[in-house]
Amino acid sequence: MNLTLKIWRQKNSKAKGVVETYKLSDVSPDSSFLEMLDVLNEGLVEKGVEPVAFDHDCREGICGMCSLYINGEAHGPDRKVTTCQLHMRMFEDGETITIEPFRSAAFPVVKDLVVDRSAFDRIQQAGGYVSVNTSGNTQDANALPIPKVDADKAFDAATCIGCGACVATCKNASAMLFVSAKVSQFSLLPQGKVEANRRVANMVSQMDEEGFGNCTNTGACEIECPKGISLDNIARMNRDFLKSLVVAEDK
Ligand code: SF4
Ligand code: FES
Repeated sequence: MNLTLKIWRQKNSKAKGVVETYKLSDVSPDSSFLEMLDVLNEGLVEKGVEPVAFDHDCREGICGMCSLYINGEAHGPDRKVTTCQLHMRMFEDGETITIEPFRSAAFPVVKDLVVDRSAFDRIQQAGGYVSVNTSGNTQDANALPIPKVDADKAFDAATCIGCGACVATCKNASAMLFVSAKVSQFSLLPQGKVEANRRVANMVSQMDEEGFGNCTNTGACEIECPKGISLDNIARMNRDFLKSLVVAEDK
């Protein structure tokens, strides 16, 4: 495949970004999108040009690090895949592909296509955990009977990989899908009910503090989410949040 790549280049968070154009030939349709960028970078290094910085780690759809906005879509044109799982056969020979970083005020660009998503870490730290007794007498989680339907919903919510595509896709840069998945994975289970009110209140408060926008139910996040996280989680989080406002609990 022969491709024209239009890639966002930005030296650092303070510098002004610019779209640079690169030509790439003989790209295998079976290569992944990140492998295609590896080939581009090898060529740039050989020419003495600074390679394009982009985020990646597992390259198998698990870590949530890869975060490219490709031809106007988070993680590109395929559905329920991350950028690292996207293959070049999804594109046409001779196509021009535009590659940008995930854009949100809460995700500042670090360099080129790399953004700082530590806002998600801080939301997690605000409440995305359960407190357990580690005295050695900890009850085995499997000893608690849990309705299968709740276990399934909690598992589905827990598949969120924190990639940030929901934020990048949303016209409001809302993080509600991410936060609601992290709230739901605990609030549906008995182990998570103890701190449920405090958790949702603190995580929503941190989400607002980080500068994410509000949800207006457009549903774009659900469509672009590589893990198919359902909007039902947002409805559940809204209910849990309202409940937290009327239930007295130590915050
Ligand atoms: S909800 Fe989906 S799009 Fe948002 S961070 Fe989680 S996996 Fe990524
Ligand atoms: S590199 Fe880990 S999900 Fe893409």
